[in-house]
Amino acid sequence: MTPATAVLFYCRSGFENDLYQEWQARSGLQARWESAAGYALAFLQEEPEPTLLHTDSWIFARQALRGMALVELGERDRLSPILDAIAALPAHWRGPWSAVWLEHPDSDEGKPLSGFCHRFTPLLEQALRERGMLDPTRDGPRLHLFFTGLNRVWLACSDPAHASPWPLGIARVRMPAEAPSRSTLKLSEALMTLVPDAHDCLKPGMVGVDLGAAPGGWTFQLVTRGLKVFAIDNGPLKGTMALHPYVKHLREDGFRYRPRHPVDWLVCDMVEQPARVAKLIADWFVRGDTRHAVFNLKLPMKKRWPEIERCFALIESALDEAGLRYTLAAKQLYHDREEITCYLALRRSAERTRRRRQVPDRV
Ligand SMILES: C[S@@+](CC[C@H](N)C(=O)[O-])C[C@H]1O[C@@H](n2cnc3c(N)ncnc32)[C@H](O)[C@@H]1O
Repeated sequence: MTPATAVLFYCRSGFENDLYQEWQARSGLQARWESAAGYALAFLQEEPEPTLLHTDSWIFARQALRGMALVELGERDRLSPILDAIAALPAHWRGPWSAVWLEHPDSDEGKPLSGFCHRFTPLLEQALRERGMLDPTRDGPRLHLFFTGLNRVWLACSDPAHASPWPLGIARVRMPAEAPSRSTLKLSEALMTLVPDAHDCLKPGMVGVDLGAAPGGWTFQLVTRGLKVFAIDNGPLKGTMALHPYVKHLREDGFRYRPRHPVDWLVCDMVEQPARVAKLIADWFVRGDTRHAVFNLKLPMKKRWPEIERCFALIESALDEAGLRYTLAAKQLYHDREEITCYLALRRSAERTRRRRQVPDRV
């Protein structure tokens, strides 16, 4: 079966409905929506706007792909029906592809398919190469085979310039042995995913503030990049962060603390009402206390999307009113659970405000 038009999203299992609400708010398109644990499909009457396939503009999607065809597979020979289905696609979808990725939902049902995908990849790669459909020396679109079971696969494609660069849309982050908490992975992933020029804007000699720092996982990420950090928390810092020469631990309330001089970075992982955190972050920018911030919005409530919109509206109206130009981006990271991680940064004066979650312009 080849549906007219489909967009295939990967997401965290259990957050398909949040993604649906985001889809409705952003696309404004009538679409038939189907979802199962870890993924969702929007079926459209028309070709999707290219920006709807820009993975970094979605909060709840780890990957956004153009779905091309759904293929039913037999038990014995899975290769032939896949090759036949690719050969039956319109000419511009027959390759040569720059790469082929075999993937599956990140869910209890999907994870057992990982071994099969691993074993099947070299067979498929060879068959595609022999048919001139795969050429890794070229730049250009990537082919994705998304197995929802051993007998069903979605053929989809992505433009690597706008897709997640990681299989399954999951950033691989190494757990540093010296980090005092696993939550260090969250900030590490946030810097990889949300901060495009992290190498340039996180430099030795800069100063950061970590609100809700204990036991020190986020502080660890900043000091390993050479920043000096004010770590604000009534709780204790642990391990190497407790005595690190670049860390000044202050047992203060994160909602009251303000730096004496403006800092380069603010990070905030306090478990608090999201709107309260959003107001606090906006206030730091309006007062000129920081230029960059990474912060978590904890979302244990049922209606997460309206809460996100409320928080973003708070931030945007405060910064707009102050005449600031900024970038605001957000993502439910792989290491996030019932929360999202946001990045807010001032832009240089000549640049326009950029909201990554903006409703795409109509062509
Ligand atoms: C999720 S933990 C932070 C983990 C930390 N980011 C890490 O990587 O190790 C939340 C922390 O926020 C702190 N916290 C909550 N409310 C706070 C407040 N009003 N002021 C300062 N710290 C607060 C808690 O004491 C707790 O240590």
